[in-house]
Amino acid sequence: MSDITTSKPWRRLETLAAASRKFRTIDLFDADPDRAGAFSIEAAALYLDWSKNKISREAMSALVDLARAAGLEAAIARMVSGEKINTTENRAVLHVALRDFSGRSYVVDGVDVAPQIAAERRKMRDFADKYERGGLIGFSGAPIDTIVNIGIGGSDLGPLMAVEALRPYWLGGRRAFFVSNVDGQHLGDTLEALDPSRTLFIVASKTFTTQETMTNAESARAWFLGKGGKERDIARHFIALSTNERAVRAFGVAPENMFVFWDFVGGRYSLWSAIGLSIALQCGYAVFEAMLRGACAMDEHFRAAPLEANMPAILALVGVWNRNFMGAAAHAVLPYDQHLHRLPAFLQQLDMESNGKSATLSGARAPCATGPVLFGEPGTNGQHAFYQLIHQGTDLISADFIAAAKSATPLGDHHEKLLANFLAQPEALMLGKDEAQVRAALAAEGVSADAAGRLAPHKVFPGDRPTNAILFERLTPGALGALVALYEHKVFAQGAIWGVNSFDQWGVELGKTLAMKILPEIAPLGQAKPPPEGHDGSTRRLIERINAWRASKEGWL
Ligand code: F6P
Repeated sequence: MSDITTSKPWRRLETLAAASRKFRTIDLFDADPDRAGAFSIEAAALYLDWSKNKISREAMSALVDLARAAGLEAAIARMVSGEKINTTENRAVLHVALRDFSGRSYVVDGVDVAPQIAAERRKMRDFADKYERGGLIGFSGAPIDTIVNIGIGGSDLGPLMAVEALRPYWLGGRRAFFVSNVDGQHLGDTLEALDPSRTLFIVASKTFTTQETMTNAESARAWFLGKGGKERDIARHFIALSTNERAVRAFGVAPENMFVFWDFVGGRYSLWSAIGLSIALQCGYAVFEAMLRGACAMDEHFRAAPLEANMPAILALVGVWNRNFMGAAAHAVLPYDQHLHRLPAFLQQLDMESNGKSATLSGARAPCATGPVLFGEPGTNGQHAFYQLIHQGTDLISADFIAAAKSATPLGDHHEKLLANFLAQPEALMLGKDEAQVRAALAAEGVSADAAGRLAPHKVFPGDRPTNAILFERLTPGALGALVALYEHKVFAQGAIWGVNSFDQWGVELGKTLAMKILPEIAPLGQAKPPPEGHDGSTRRLIERINAWRASKEGWL
């Protein structure tokens, strides 16, 4: 693809962005009584309103032209056709196939992979049904009722986020834990609460080589053997989810206890595959499948809807507008739903690992800003922490506000209050409060004109802070699936516009390699180590400092 910033729509958008400095977002509503209707869309039971962004109808249509100029429609077709669009890893990208129940074929290297996907789903269903019935029996003869998913990145964040989101659907008497960090405190703290004879460890790793996961899995096995489990019991207490059969076997998990997935499923897109087994176990297989079907509804919309009425494409284009033309450096995801408390962390990987790139597909340097910094916390918590900066900071931050109209756990007027905040913040961010309004409010409180003059600059809200609202009736498994698919396709569409490969993650490699080199330089507790060689001066000194402290066995042991 040629440099998108030299395209006609990009130039047009630059002109429109410059012109937009002369008006305020609210002016667009005043001039266009149907703006809220025109800038909102419903698909797969989700409702998106993007009207509070400073985008005119003209700019919107130029954005759609931009997507066309970047070849987004063709890119979607290439992805779902099984083409190896992940060119740096020579892989197809077919997470949509994992949640397609239509009977379509998905051909990779001349083979239709749909039957393999369906077979693995059946295996997951049978296993989950057995767990639900209490049919998985531990070494003491009692049924297994606790699962521990050991994985990291996509092998942790997706299932963890979904299990938390689907809390109202948890099976009675079942518990799910997630261990990801190589910090032994994560595993150690988790194991404290567990009965080994009732626990199933799920080792989840696409590659089955990830340092954190393999270390945690080995330690979990050692703990299990130290707590009464025997080698012969490993088979019923340890299962694996992976693409790497050989490594799973070498770890000691029997092939029948392995659930597979494939290279065409990226780690951060893997919760729909065997990696989602913990969701099916904690909530029941039917709930897992309902989530897949919700995602599928969004996929069908993404494939078929014209770009001007295509929810993921619109969300992507609004993001491109804010990032590339309005100068937003960061994007906040703010779910007004406690059960979505891990959604921002999940989306951080999805978005930042996918589009945090400086090289385009051709190897050239990206000619424009690519993926923004993504962060977030559930509302209303964030309001009492970092919203200050979004309202009055020197950087423009765009934000998605997400909420369900009905709560799964209605309690007094909690949900009404939650929704009032969900609505008030975007309104405040858009409208702001100018100096005249501030002075008038202060005067009404009896503050002198002098004092008001001193206070006013601190109380002014610039407004025009762009936000999207994403609404659904209730956070059902289907709504969750659609929501996650919406973000997956948004990220893909943005990658297509920026011309980057959204499906590799070479940027994680360098740190991993250096950590392997440093590992033998860290002194075992109570032992001395010679000063390390190589490294920069800072790292060398830090290693020396750590090793000096570790040489003494005093303190926590
Ligand atoms: O280091 C990044 C990464 O490769 C992610 O992309 C991936 O989700 C995570 O590590 C875990 O990888 P695996 O599932 O192979 O253990």
